[in-house]
Amino acid sequence: MSKVSVIGAGNVGATVADVLAQNEVCNEVVLLDIKENFADGKALDMRETAPIRLSDTFVKGVTNDYASTAHSDVVVITSGLPRKPGQSRDDLIGINAKIVKSVAEEVVKHSPDAIILIVANPLDVMTYAAFLATNKSRNKVFGMAGVLDTARYRAFISCDLNISVKDIQALLMGGHGDTMVPLPRYTTVAGIPLTQLMTNEKINSIVKRTQEGGGEIVKLLGTSAWYAPGQAAAQMVEAIIKDQKRVLPVCARLEGEYGLSDVFLGVPAVLGKNGIEKIFEIDLNEQERTFLDKSNKAVKEVMDVLDSMKLF
Ligand code: 2OP
Repeated sequence: MSKVSVIGAGNVGATVADVLAQNEVCNEVVLLDIKENFADGKALDMRETAPIRLSDTFVKGVTNDYASTAHSDVVVITSGLPRKPGQSRDDLIGINAKIVKSVAEEVVKHSPDAIILIVANPLDVMTYAAFLATNKSRNKVFGMAGVLDTARYRAFISCDLNISVKDIQALLMGGHGDTMVPLPRYTTVAGIPLTQLMTNEKINSIVKRTQEGGGEIVKLLGTSAWYAPGQAAAQMVEAIIKDQKRVLPVCARLEGEYGLSDVFLGVPAVLGKNGIEKIFEIDLNEQERTFLDKSNKAVKEVMDVLDSMKLF
């Protein structure tokens, strides 16, 4: 019997729940929202989808009832405000840190052993907030950003080369923001290095579009993306629930890897039933290392802002 709770039934949370049900990732999904009846309604709609999509995953919606989330294997925290046009992810820190703190505290009360996946912005620093609020080891509390950013990068490469997304393997590191570190040297098309298929100029423009990918959607929609973020989080949940040992970019607390400590950054990791089971330390050239250091500095600055708020 596997159980996943998704906190926040907004666009991202509802998409995570829906993808988990669609793919029958677990037996039960509990969708929780603070807004009266909101999660209940969305979950009911998803349950009524079950006979059409032939899914046995039971989706239950609750209004702020954390007892219903008890004994979850994984809890996905999507609560918080999304970006509005003109806002950076970092602008959300004040309000979202308080939300993530109170949610994470409630979650661990009822599911002390759950693995916690953070999907709220500013992502890296909200993962830090959840780490502080839960007192869990870093393998059990981490964030989703790299799977989304890598998906955007792969989607753009696929469109440009007119080849299937299925054959594009890519890696991306660093923070979830304009300083994220796409790694063209580690990007291949069915094993062929991307650098043999595209000019540097083209690669750089795709990297830039990826770095600004979240903002591109905000400009179009007036709010943040949800389909790709929801799918990305659900893929990480599936890797954990099914103990798949997938190698995915994960926002993790670094404890000496890459010579960095006490910072939350995207790194390639193995995800299985114990959460983060391994972090890979790949070789970086001088330029990639400079980008990673820049990303580290940018995330640390926002972590300092959180520290100065003295919420913990
Ligand atoms: C994004 O990049 C919401 O941060 C998220 O779309």
